[in-house]
Amino acid sequence: MSSPLIAPYSASKFALDGFFSSVRKEFSMTKVNVSITLCILGLINTDTAMNAVAGVLNAHGSPKEECALEILKGGALRREELYYGTPLWTSVLVASPGRKLLEFLSLRNYNLDKFTSS
Ligand SMILES: *[C@@H]1O[C@H](CO)[C@@H](O)[C@H](O)[C@H]1NC(C)=O
Repeated sequence: MSSPLIAPYSASKFALDGFFSSVRKEFSMTKVNVSITLCILGLINTDTAMNAVAGVLNAHGSPKEECALEILKGGALRREELYYGTPLWTSVLVASPGRKLLEFLSLRNYNLDKFTSS
């Protein structure tokens, strides 16, 4: 989600979501067995993040070591999305059923013969 004071960061994360969600669909349509895990992370206690929010945000960052482990687990388990360091209800609120439905419906309009998996 977008947040104030981190526009460049938000822009790069939205770009990654768009790019890798497109690639995931292409892999799926061409039966390429590569998984892509989108990591939705809350505030992590890296030096960079904690310095960026110092005096601005009243929040504790989640431990970076545990975050790294969760990312590795999510990738190994081939999860489409993983949430770490976010409030419990985040996955429900962020998951957009409208977006997923539109993406699914739009796939009907593609000519699968034009896709190659080379
Ligand atoms: C895809 O790759 C995973 C990991 O190597 C494997 O477990 C799974 O059986 C593969 N699925 C297909 C449909 O080949």
